[in-house]
Amino acid sequence: MSDFAVHPYATAIGAEVTGVDLSRALDDSTWSALRDAYLEYLVLFFHDQKLTPAQQVEFSRRFGRLEEYPFVHGIDGYPELIEIVKEPDEVINFGHLWHTDMTFREQPPAGAVLYALEVPPVGGDTLFANMYLAWEMLSEGMKAVLRQLRAIHDSGTPQRHTDTFKGMKMQHRQGSERQITAHPFVRVHPETGRESLLISPSYCHRIEGMTDEESRMILDHLERHATQDILTCRFRWQTGTVVIWDNRCTMHIALEDDLAAMRGDMGFRRVMRRATIGV
Ligand code: SIN
Repeated sequence: MSDFAVHPYATAIGAEVTGVDLSRALDDSTWSALRDAYLEYLVLFFHDQKLTPAQQVEFSRRFGRLEEYPFVHGIDGYPELIEIVKEPDEVINFGHLWHTDMTFREQPPAGAVLYALEVPPVGGDTLFANMYLAWEMLSEGMKAVLRQLRAIHDSGTPQRHTDTFKGMKMQHRQGSERQITAHPFVRVHPETGRESLLISPSYCHRIEGMTDEESRMILDHLERHATQDILTCRFRWQTGTVVIWDNRCTMHIALEDDLAAMRGDMGFRRVMRRATIGV
């Protein structure tokens, strides 16, 4: 515990944690400090980690029971871990639009743990947004309107989650079905009691009782509002980095910033291993 330290990463969200080896069992005081930092900073970054699949599962389970990803099957022997792959000639990443994970479910997951197996020296960053602040920084007028509304969150076809990505086609989970649900725009964090804005642009395109055009105007505005620089951080990965985010009050996006692939050349390969924490 003596070297354990938490370093805020940006003003709105995120902290880097040093002095902890996630492959080992955490003692109670380290665990409690980590838990506090998670609730305060919403996303934690840990560099220079070496995690076997079993160790990633064990660490992730400290935060709650693990869920299998509905459209992607798990890696051999670990159904709760999926591999996220971008090949060098691909431009888009899995998670390339702003989203809160799996909001097409009635109970979206509580969080996720992503472990970087292969990342380029530059590029492939992930951005995170603080949705508590996104809610708090709306006008009282807009909050009052949003409190009356619900948005439809739609997974799209199950194939969309794998077939769009070369490296993930083979991982498609057979028999999975499209999922659609409606959520209010504001939700309350079960541990902190704070309200946060719930939008998920990757899955959410319509507001109940409104036309597509009316929905678009409001949803586009909310996306711009929630993803302004002041509410986000941009994280650069290293191989061996572990990131955990609180899906109950954040959004994220895996940037499409592979310029070489965009120009039709060979760009970078990026491989992550992901665990999803259920509620
Ligand atoms: C995800 O959205 O689950 C993946 C994010 C990333 O690869 O940066």
